[in-house]
Order: sequence, then structure tokens, then C-alpha cells
Amino acid sequence: MSVVKIEMMNETHIDGILEIEKKCFPDEPWTRKMFESELENMISAFIVGVDENSGDVVCYGGMWIIADIAEITNIAVAPNAQRQGLGEKTLNILLDVCRERGLAAVNLEVRENNAAALGLYEKLGFEAVGRRKKYYNNKHDAILMTKNLQR
Ligand SMILES: CC(C)(COP(=O)(O)OP(=O)(O)OC[C@H]1O[C@@H](n2cnc3c(N)ncnc32)[C@H](O)[C@@H]1OP(=O)(O)O)[C@@H](O)C(=O)NCCC(=O)NCCS
Repeated sequence: MSVVKIEMMNETHIDGILEIEKKCFPDEPWTRKMFESELENMISAFIVGVDENSGDVVCYGGMWIIADIAEITNIAVAPNAQRQGLGEKTLNILLDVCRERGLAAVNLEVRENNAAALGLYEKLGFEAVGRRKKYYNNKHDAILMTKNLQR
């Protein structure tokens, strides 16, 4: 795989992001407006990985920072680029930003049957701390996970 460069999201990334978003979240993809509003949102930090050879967007991840807590809002890797460490790289960069800013913790929600995401979060030290029953399509529970950055 060629080198993937991580950049802050800008308007030029959004077409590529939307392609991945539709494939990764076919039931409920974020819309163009939602990504555009992240660009304007002062509490949002949103990063994108771009393949240096092709110029294609291959991964992205974002969070909201409120006081000393971050909430991961989205993270995805293009299906043809998964299982090559890009999800881990993206999340680690978001965690580095949180550490640099001295945040206390990072929270997120994940669907109970999303084995890939659960595996990634557990590998990076997130712990399950709660559950929202039938949160997704009134069917699947959401697992609430947190990573304490102060210990
Ligand atoms: C979740 C996702 C971002 C992981 O990205 P990725 O680049 O494929 O993951 P990585 O290659 O960085 O893997 C890091 C770790 O995650 C776990 N993991 C990744 N894919 C996995 C899978 N299919 N099954 C189980 N564990 C998996 C493993 O622990 C892996 O570490 P290892 O390689 O040492 O085994 C990716 O699968 C994705 O985009 N899924 C669709 C969108 C999504 O569900 N986003 C999360 C919403 S909460």
C-alpha cells in the first residue's frame, strides 16, 4: 500500500468521504451537509487520510471536544483499504490530539454487532461502560465506551 497522508478535513475531501460513507454506513450515511457543518463547527476536529499516489480519500475520523471530554462522531476506512492499520492510525491521531489538549477522556458509541469497530476500540484501550437498548433501528444495542486519558 502507498503512503497515506493525514490532513485536516477540507471541502475538497467531501466527495471522496461521501463515497466511503455510503459503503460503510449504507443504512444511515452522513450527508454532504453534515460533513460541511463539521467544517464550520468550532468544537469539531475532523481528519482525513489521503493516498499520496492516487490522491484518493481512504479514511477519516472526527470528534467533538466539549470541555475536557471528546466524543468520537465518525470513523471509517474505505472497504478496499481496511485491515491495513488505517483505522488504528486515524483513531490514534485523534487520541494524540486529545492528549495534547490535556483532555480527561474520550467517549464513543458502537453498535453491539460491529465486531471490527469493537476490536479496534478494545485494542486502543476503550472500555465498555454502558449500553443503550435497541438504539440502532430499534434493533441493536449501542455499547458506550470510554478511554480515560488521565491514567
Ligand atoms: C472499524 C474500522 C474503522 C476499522 O478500520 P481498519 O483500518 O480496517 O482497522 P485496522 O486495520 O486499523 O485494525 C486495527 C484493529 O482493529 C481490529 N479489527 C479491525 N478489523 C476487524 C475485523 N474485521 N474483525 C475483528 N477485529 C477487527 C483488530 O483488533 C485490529 O488489530 P489487528 O490488526 O492487530 O488485529 C473499519 O472496519 C470500518 O471502516 N468499518 C466500517 C465503518 C464503521 O463501522 N465505523 C465505526 C463506527 S462505530
